[in-house]
Amino acid sequence: MGAPQTDVLSIEELPINDQKDVGSVALVTINRPDKLNALNDEVMSSLKSMVAWVEATDSIRVVVLTGAQPNQPPEGKRMKPNAFVAGADITEFVGKRSDDIREMFADNAVEALWSLSKPTIAMVDGFALGGGCEVACSCDVRIASSRSRFGTPEINLGLIPGYGATQRSVRLIGYGKTMEMVMTGEMIDADEAHRIGLANHVCPPEELREFTLNMARLIGSKSSNTLRVGKATIRAALDVGLTEGVALEAEAFASLFDSKDKEIGVNAFLNRETAEWEHR
Ligand code: COA
Repeated sequence: MGAPQTDVLSIEELPINDQKDVGSVALVTINRPDKLNALNDEVMSSLKSMVAWVEATDSIRVVVLTGAQPNQPPEGKRMKPNAFVAGADITEFVGKRSDDIREMFADNAVEALWSLSKPTIAMVDGFALGGGCEVACSCDVRIASSRSRFGTPEINLGLIPGYGATQRSVRLIGYGKTMEMVMTGEMIDADEAHRIGLANHVCPPEELREFTLNMARLIGSKSSNTLRVGKATIRAALDVGLTEGVALEAEAFASLFDSKDKEIGVNAFLNRETAEWEHR
């Protein structure tokens, strides 16, 4: 099955290692730069197809999600700003009622992204606002350029965040900062996002792609089975109490002792070789 490209979502498959066939990083670009990559219905449905394709395609090891760079403006017009995603497409809110939103959320692209079993990295260069901040928070890691700005401005629309910011952000950046961001609607810059743990790393814009892809390739070079177990186990920490979580981790750790990749990894270490994983 080929990558599900659409007008608003492009997917590049970048090899993890030029020498060996050990799978690819899917670089997924949300492509509506004239609207700051805002999430309209078409983007949301493309994201869902992308997630289903990644889950079903063994060769894809890691997803890097980003927003398209601004287009060159027509003469006399100003350049649009850089954006990861400036939120849900506000024009699609007009006239919508609660039942429309409930129906939309029953099959929710952000939840699909969150539930992907493979590692995901948000590569943020510019505005990550509202649903954009939430899409970034639905990825496992966020790498931001120094010109990025994060925020949850829904309060200015008479709304609250709806794609998980009141829940996932509390777990990521804490209760107090989430309250402040949601209640003020104010943006924070990349350094502040880094300081509070919203961005894992901040880089100059010209280094963002290389830094992010290096991390994606590093993660993608590990055993995909072990990564899947690790991700699921860390995720469990968000839902269960400490005692149950520690027991869950012990069981996940124990279960990996029956995996071939544990034998491969341990032997590779002892023989000073590079591990050639069964689950690439
Ligand atoms: N939905 C729909 N369109 C959006 C959008 C969104 N969330 N965010 C930006 N756009 C569009 C603008 O309408 C504009 O379109 P146009 O050129 O056809 O008029 C284009 O993207 C560029 O945005 P603009 O507002 O002109 O850029 P700016 O540099 O003046 O301001 C922002 C940038 C990010 C501060 C501003 O666009 C903004 O506040 N966006 C909305 C953020 C938001 O509330 N997100 C949460 C939604 S739930």
